This record gives sequence, C-alpha cells and structure tokens, in this order.
Amino acid sequence: MNRIGVPEFVAGTTDFDETTRARADALVARYPVGRSALLPLLHLVQSVEGCVTQGGIEFCARQLDLTAAEVSAVATFYTMYKRRPCGEHLVSVCTNTLCAVLGGDEIYAALSDHLGVGHEETAGEPGEPGSITLETAECLAACDHGPVLQVNYEFYDRQTADGALGLVQALQRGEKPAPTRGAPLTDFRTAELEIAGVVPADEAARVAGNSVSEYTLRGNTIAEATGASAPAMPDHYDMPALPEKK
Ligand code: FES
Repeated sequence: MNRIGVPEFVAGTTDFDETTRARADALVARYPVGRSALLPLLHLVQSVEGCVTQGGIEFCARQLDLTAAEVSAVATFYTMYKRRPCGEHLVSVCTNTLCAVLGGDEIYAALSDHLGVGHEETAGEPGEPGSITLETAECLAACDHGPVLQVNYEFYDRQTADGALGLVQALQRGEKPAPTRGAPLTDFRTAELEIAGVVPADEAARVAGNSVSEYTLRGNTIAEATGASAPAMPDHYDMPALPEKK
C-alpha cells in the first residue's frame, strides 16, 4: 500500500514472451500514433499476468516510447486495470443506485459472505481454476435488467442473491454457466486478450450468443406496434449565441 492506502503495482515480469511481443507489435501497428495503443496494451498485459504489473507498465512504456509515469497515470485512472492478480473469474456486482435498490447490495453481501472476501479481493489462488475475484461495480449500463452482475464482463441479468450464489458456486466447481446475453463465458485472462483486440481464429463461434434484449428493445417494439415515430429532425438548426464574457 502507498501512503494513501492504494495498492502498489506488483512487480511482474518485464520479459514477455515472443507471442506477447508480436501481439503488442500488431496492436501498435493498428494506430497512426503509437500511444493510442496504450489501452489495448494494458489489457494485453492483464491477459498474461492477470493484472497490470510494474513490469507490464515498463513493457508498455518501451513499446510506445512513453515514460513509466505516463503509463501509470493511465493505468491508475481506469478501474478495469487491476493492481492485484485476478482469479480465474472476475465477478462484478452492480451496486449502483438502481441495482442496489433492486437487490444488488444483498447479492454483493451474499457473495462476499460465501467467498470470505471483499471488494477487489480474491478467493482462492489467483489464476488457479475456481478462483474468484469479487468487486462492486458502478452502473453497468444494463439498468433495464437490474439487478445485474458480470463475470469477466459477460452479463447475468435479473439476479437474486440465491441465483448469484448458485452461479458463483458453479464457477468454483469449474462450470461455465451461459451468460444471459453475449458471448459464452471464458475466463478473465482470455476475456482480457479479446478486449485487447486479439481475436481468436474462431471469432464468429466465440461471440455467438443471445445478444438481443427484449427489455432494451421494448420502446422500439411498442413504437412499431402503434405506428409511433420520433419527430423529424430539422434540416437546419441555428445555435443560440453564447452570452458575452464579462
Ligand atoms: S444501476 Fe446497475 S446497471 Fe445501471
């Protein structure tokens, strides 16, 4: 921990293997300016080490001709970059306002009790089969399905404390229950590789899943059934003048 109680980055390796270095080169080549590849590279580091490590920060800095301080500044800004190695699965429970009042707080408490860990802590040996990192999450942009949780960023909608407990127990047994929507479940490190933009050869099969949400489309469905439509946009819009600066 540093002086304000935030975990330091763990050491990790600076010597990433040939495959990872080749993947990093390919990601950097996608962008006209190298530093634009920093976010994917940090996910690539997480796919190898289960979190962003000090070695990973130095690796990204070397790849992109940045300073370690510049990379750290980005890695510490976003909550998706973890400072401790994650378990085989990352379970994120939405405890933002709407999900909280619908049961998100009870779900988080039940999982925390069962796993014996709190926010951003891991039950089991990180990376080992059945290990689970638990966290609270801010709004996951699925309020119409609340209360929701994600496993490795895949959605499990309309959860209850008992249902979430059953899901986590299944993960601990090595099962991979199907998400409500989206791609089939993998594990945290594989998901991080995909988020980095390294897609598997069987990408089409990997992402095949139920992606349509009847709740999200309900407004559209009602509009189609009733013939309702949004007013046409004006051809032209005059911006009001800004008030003079005093
Ligand atoms: S408050 Fe939970 S998804 Fe929005």
